[in-house]
Amino acid sequence: MTTSTIQAPKVHEVTMTYFDGTRRTAIVTDIETPFPTGRHVISHSDTSGIITYVNQFLIDICGYKESELLGQPHHILRHPDMPAVIFEQMWKTLQKGHIWHGAVKNLRKDGGFYWVDATVTPTKRDDQLTGFISVRSQLSREKRQECEKRYPTLF
Ligand SMILES: Cc1cc2nc3c(=O)[nH]c(=O)nc-3n(C[C@H](O)[C@H](O)[C@H](O)COP(=O)(O)O)c2cc1C
Repeated sequence: MTTSTIQAPKVHEVTMTYFDGTRRTAIVTDIETPFPTGRHVISHSDTSGIITYVNQFLIDICGYKESELLGQPHHILRHPDMPAVIFEQMWKTLQKGHIWHGAVKNLRKDGGFYWVDATVTPTKRDDQLTGFISVRSQLSREKRQECEKRYPTLF
C-alpha cells in the first residue's frame, strides 16, 4: 500500500525595513506562482520609483488591484529574500542613466512569490530623466538556481 502526505504550506510573518526607513510586516508563504513563458510584466514609474502604470499581467500575477498599485512605491512588490544590495546596485545604475538587468523574487499580495528576469530602462525627455520602465519575463532555471544560492550570502 502506498501512502501520500499533503504538505501544509509554510507561512510566516516578516518585517521588512525599506531604504527610506519605513517598515512593513508581511505574511510570507512558500507558494510559488510560476511565471509563464512568453508573457511580460510591465510597469512604469516616476524618477523615485512610484508606480505610474501597470499592465494587466502584473495585476494578475501579483494579486493587487490596479488601484492598490498606482501611486505606490515599487517596493510594495519586494520579497524579504531579496538582498538590499541588489536594489542599491539597481538604483546606482539607473541614476547614471543606464539600463539595469537582474533577477528578482517578488512578493504577491497573498504572501506567495514569483521570480522574474527584469530589465529596467530610464526614460528621458530632452536628455532629462523622466522615469523608468520595467519589463519582466520568465527567469531561466540556471539563473534562478544561481540566485537562490548567491542572494542569501548578500545579507
Ligand atoms: C521601474 C521600477 C520597477 C521596479 N520593480 C521592482 C519589483 O518588481 N520588485 C521589487 O522588489 N523592486 C522593484 N523595484 C525597486 C524598488 O523601487 C525598491 O528599490 C526595492 O523594492 C527595494 O525597496 P527599497 O529600495 O525601498 O528598500 C523597481 C524599481 C523601478 C524604478
